[in-house]
Amino acid sequence: MAPKPAKHPALFECVECGYQSAKYFGRCPQCQEWNTMVEGAAEAETAAPAGPGPQPQPLAEVDSASAPRRLTGLAEFDRVLGGGIVPHSVILIGGEPGVGKSTLLLEVSAALARQGHSVLYYSGEESAQQIKMRADRLGAAAAGISLLASGSLEDLKRLVHETRPGFLVIDSIQTLPSRRTAALGGSVASLRTLTAEIIELAKSGGVTVFLIGHITKEGQLAGPKSLEHMVDAVLYFQGETQADLRLLRAEKNRFGPLNEVGIFQMSEKGLASVSDPTQVLIQDRQSRSPGTAIFPAMSGLRPLLTEVQALVADSPFAGNPRRIAIGFDGYRLAMLISIIEKKLRLPFYKSDVFLNVTGGMVIRETAADLAVCQALVSSHRGVVPPANSVVLGEVGLTGEIRPVSFLEMRVKEAIRQGFSTILLPAANGPVSNYKGISVISIDNIRGLLEQLKA
Ligand SMILES: Nc1ncnc2c1ncn2[C@@H]1O[C@H](COP(=O)(O)OP(=O)(O)OP(=O)(O)O)[C@@H](O)[C@H]1O
Ligand SMILES: [Mg+2]
Repeated sequence: MAPKPAKHPALFECVECGYQSAKYFGRCPQCQEWNTMVEGAAEAETAAPAGPGPQPQPLAEVDSASAPRRLTGLAEFDRVLGGGIVPHSVILIGGEPGVGKSTLLLEVSAALARQGHSVLYYSGEESAQQIKMRADRLGAAAAGISLLASGSLEDLKRLVHETRPGFLVIDSIQTLPSRRTAALGGSVASLRTLTAEIIELAKSGGVTVFLIGHITKEGQLAGPKSLEHMVDAVLYFQGETQADLRLLRAEKNRFGPLNEVGIFQMSEKGLASVSDPTQVLIQDRQSRSPGTAIFPAMSGLRPLLTEVQALVADSPFAGNPRRIAIGFDGYRLAMLISIIEKKLRLPFYKSDVFLNVTGGMVIRETAADLAVCQALVSSHRGVVPPANSVVLGEVGLTGEIRPVSFLEMRVKEAIRQGFSTILLPAANGPVSNYKGISVISIDNIRGLLEQLKA
């Protein structure tokens, strides 16, 4: 008896989050959205291929002479990619509506075109005239850029093979039609098939591809998370409208460090790289108020001074005060509050607590614990922290201050920026060799109270 063909287990897929199931659900069990399950994820991939198929190659014999990275000259963009663009890679750039994705990619295109590379720019959202207007405003109407403001993936494939551009910009993946995926509508399966074809095109057509992707209200790339697994790099472009700052963050990068952040300033003339972000992020370091702390964060491999602010205020909600953290983990904030309550005997149960990392920065490092505690205690007691000081250290559950990584780079940056005092973990060892800054080492959170005397 012939064996039964294996059945693909996933038949339904959620268009919001990519959850797959053999069973239909009216409400997705993963993201809880209603009516988002569509049929069509299953594809017959089980049939044995005809012919001998590809053969493995000993790794040691693989030719490693690779093409050099391409620098765009937009310093912050090159930095986020880990030192330029790796040829033939596929880079996904996500961002909220209007944050400046098209602006960024048009500037990157112009920079590449000026170096003699040819760029094919596809836009499914704007007309050629609109793009030209923007290019004129940005001074980015370079000769080497060709526009395509209509057409499908099939047209792009033909053009890439005919004209062999060095770079292809797709603005955006959600608006690129394709004959193969037309039947699937805007489903996850469709976006994934499209992305797989674009990756194939990058390899076969020898072209480097920038894919623009829209972001949903939850801050995820509209469509599946699984797109992120397929491409070589995923960059998120986010805006801080107040200061016209734009942050470009590497969420994934096969060829460079993670959590690297590029900082730009948006103006009428376009995006300018901000070479010394500390100057923009921390504007008023002398006249400090209660509830602040400057933390030397690591953004990828670059130290970046950031300001943490806390507001501890009487709560109108007796017994259920608010704990709100922006740019910092809410659970970690709750933990630090409990440590302060227990070890420093400062009650927070009647107080609302708001914590904010200024400039739209996000801190994921535990090394910021002590800075958060300083901001909290300083606001609670209404005491201004020592002038011109920075603070860092991880706080353990028993109140001990644990060592941090990259200490030297952080301290050097604080010195370079002209800070005069640094509060750091005693557990990092003796630090007498730092010139130009006075070092205060503490081993327990109680040491913080010494610094915040009324
Ligand atoms: N004349 C101008 N002066 C200053 N800034 C401008 C000007 N025109 C546009 N901008 C900036 O450019 C942003 C829009 O840029 P862009 O169209 O590149 O965004 P996008 O992310 O591609 O948007 P979409 O999601 O609609 O495609 C605006 O939010 C604004 O900050
Ligand atoms: Mg756009």
